Amino acid sequence: LIAFFQPKLLAGRKVVMTAGPTFEAIDPVRGITNTSSGKMGYALAQACRRAGAEVVLVSGPTGLPAPLGVERVDVCSALQMRDAVVAALPGADVFIGVAAVADYRPLSAAEHKVKKSSAELTLTPNPDILAEVAARPDAPFCVGFAAESRELDAYAEGKRRAKRLPMLVGNLVQDGLGSDDNQVILYDDAGRHPQPRAPKTVVAQKIVEHLAGLLAMRAT
Ligand code: CTP
Ligand code: CA
Repeated sequence: LIAFFQPKLLAGRKVVMTAGPTFEAIDPVRGITNTSSGKMGYALAQACRRAGAEVVLVSGPTGLPAPLGVERVDVCSALQMRDAVVAALPGADVFIGVAAVADYRPLSAAEHKVKKSSAELTLTPNPDILAEVAARPDAPFCVGFAAESRELDAYAEGKRRAKRLPMLVGNLVQDGLGSDDNQVILYDDAGRHPQPRAPKTVVAQKIVEHLAGLLAMRAT
């Protein structure tokens, strides 16, 4: 009922997003991953959908149900996530990188279970999906996330600038990880905009409002 009275801030927009962790296989029973519940990304996908957007959610393994009306593409590794994002990008107005992408993957996944006698693991860097999307000539409006354990302002704003993002959502891991609540600061060209601690659904709605405002400004 409440949704009915809300202005459709993202009506007619296509949003592509990533959420959850990636999982980089070492062998058939082991892998490298990040701690990420996917809750913030899924809440944001739902908020974008409720705001009238067409939403494609490229998700690593989370065990969460897809929000109603959201097209979910399930992936495991960062390379699969990148491919799924690139496939979903045509026509996108917005890209939001919420996923905790593993920065490295094993150079090659072993076909058989590795024995403890072979102690070496060679890693290779994964592509930076968000930076790649933001660097495209036809880049949509790109939003990043940064979960830091210290010096949030410096790291968050540094990432926003390095990846050339008009907007980034920062939080301290102590404030959000695994929780249903989060406390975030929004960073954009105008500065920092701290938000009150709130359920992730409420934080997601706030992010949508901020993003829709910047998007409307950019369009004019
Ligand atoms: N990101 C991405 N692909 C990667 C790494 C990060 O798309 N391979 C995105 C994340 O989804 C997030 C943003 O980039 O929106 C910041 O991720 P983060 O891990 O905090 O930044 P990094 O650039 O990887 O820096 P570091 O891990 O050294 O802090
Ligand atoms: Ca990283």
